[in-house]
Amino acid sequence: VLHIRPAIRDDLPAITAIYNEAIRTTTATFDTEPKTHEEQQRWFDRHGTQHPILVADDEGEVVGWACLSPWSDRPAYDVTAAFSFYVAEPHRGRGVGTQLLEALLAESRRLEYRSLIGCIAEGSEASLRLVERHGFVQAGQLREAGRKFGRLLDVRLLQLLLD
Ligand SMILES: CC(C)(COP(=O)(O)OP(=O)(O)OC[C@H]1O[C@@H](n2cnc3c(N)ncnc32)[C@H](O)[C@@H]1OP(=O)(O)O)[C@@H](O)C(=O)NCCC(=O)NCCS
Repeated sequence: VLHIRPAIRDDLPAITAIYNEAIRTTTATFDTEPKTHEEQQRWFDRHGTQHPILVADDEGEVVGWACLSPWSDRPAYDVTAAFSFYVAEPHRGRGVGTQLLEALLAESRRLEYRSLIGCIAEGSEASLRLVERHGFVQAGQLREAGRKFGRLLDVRLLQLLLD
């Protein structure tokens, strides 16, 4: 059985492996170089109680992760968070991403965020469909804002207002 729980430091190798695979093989993240364990430790330490990291734990194996991050370091934006979620390639398409997103939405409500924003790059069709099914609405589209694998890529901003 799959369960979603807060990440602990011991999950970092699995989280990093999933993220580095996405860096290498997808346009979902605009990171282009694999993350080192030290960079990931700093990332983990920056995510305090307002910006949880969750993992999808499948019988002890971390098969996906998700997090909230600051949208901006300017304090008036503190009512808004950005979200990310990644599922290991062999585990995609069986509902893990849906469970991670729903857990992130529950955390966002508990933390009393007013708004969540996702930046979804061209080519991330599953992600776009998943967030739209959960009520996110396109708030803008940045044209050719990044370049990866030799291609210029559009980025959509998807936003959800929370009650
Ligand atoms: C986006 C991602 C997290 C989704 O996780 P997942 O576990 O595969 O998601 P689920 O199985 O819960 O559902 C995916 C939805 O997308 C659909 N989907 C899957 N692959 C798809 C594709 N290539 N094109 C269109 N839709 C697709 C599924 O059918 C499902 O929709 P449905 O429930 O309406 O049928 C995962 O695909 C992933 O890690 N992708 C690469 C990284 C990424 O894009 N991250 C998001 C960055 S913000």
